[in-house]
Amino acid sequence: MIRRSTLWVVLLAGCATAPAETPVADAASGGEQAQPDGRQGATIYDKWWAALGIDFQPDDPATPAADGKGGPNGDGTLNDADGNAMLNGGHDYRLKNLFGWDLRGGDGIYGAAYHAKPYVLPVNLLAVAWTREQMTERLTAGGDGVPAYGQVLDAGQLAQVVEFVFDVREGRLPRPDQIWELSEGTPKSYRLRAGGDVARGAQVLSDQCASCHGADGRGFLIDERYSLGSHARQKSYEDWLKMIGGQPGTSMGGQLPPGDDGAAHAAWILDVLAALCDRQAFPTGDASAGDAADGDARCGGYLK
Ligand code: HEC
Repeated sequence: MIRRSTLWVVLLAGCATAPAETPVADAASGGEQAQPDGRQGATIYDKWWAALGIDFQPDDPATPAADGKGGPNGDGTLNDADGNAMLNGGHDYRLKNLFGWDLRGGDGIYGAAYHAKPYVLPVNLLAVAWTREQMTERLTAGGDGVPAYGQVLDAGQLAQVVEFVFDVREGRLPRPDQIWELSEGTPKSYRLRAGGDVARGAQVLSDQCASCHGADGRGFLIDERYSLGSHARQKSYEDWLKMIGGQPGTSMGGQLPPGDDGAAHAAWILDVLAALCDRQAFPTGDASAGDAADGDARCGGYLK
């Protein structure tokens, strides 16, 4: 965002007749000067308020009162397409909750056959016949269970989310099913795909992750309960997305190498997640959330 507004200051300063559009509107049109960034879109998809530093705390769905912070109503609720507060809908405000970590909505990991999340929508973003414009319109104005994100995200930010989805759809970013497959009835309903190169992944971890996470992934606890290894062995269906844009609101930015070869990026992520399946090299330590036991399906054949 900083980059784009800086750019516009420069552009407007050098322009005798400034264009009528706001910078945000121009970013949404995908003009050459302000291409939306699908990697940044991944973190907005994950947790928009943390990714963008927006002062928002979702209404707690477990309590009857609207007891959050920020948003159009000031209380951590968002509105539906008709302008009514989606009270007690806290889980419905993260895009990843509505459409799942694999973007497949009710067909995917949050669907009835797998995690059966009550708030997942029956829209598979990787298959639905929406154009970019239709997806932008739905996210902006809301409808059919989607809140009107246009009240909290600007057009440029929404364009990044749409770019992310289309980058995945069109092969510029990895597709989740290139990294892990759904697996009914096994822990967390997924397993890593075969074919990962553990040695290559271990090299990436040492070169690129150890400076923060420590050589064995125990530099600090994740969510106060996991080591890096124990998180990846139990939640790779989330972690694949973090490799693209980073962990929203933390010092960890996107980790993927540059380029737009989604299949190569998927292989890179699979290598890293496969390497993290080594319980000796990346131990749990005293992290309280436990670890994958022998025979756990999530790591596929990589569990050591
Ligand atoms: C600049 C420091 C930094 C670098 C480099 C870094 N991370 Fe992180 N990572 C973090 C921080 C900070 C968190 C957030 C911890 C938390 O949320 O409790 C995090 C979180 C994570 C998570 C957990 C995400 C979740 O769902 O909670 C994973 C997985 C992860 N990192 C993997 C990696 C991998 C793999 C690499 C290298 C390719 C890497 N990180 C590089 C700092 C870093």
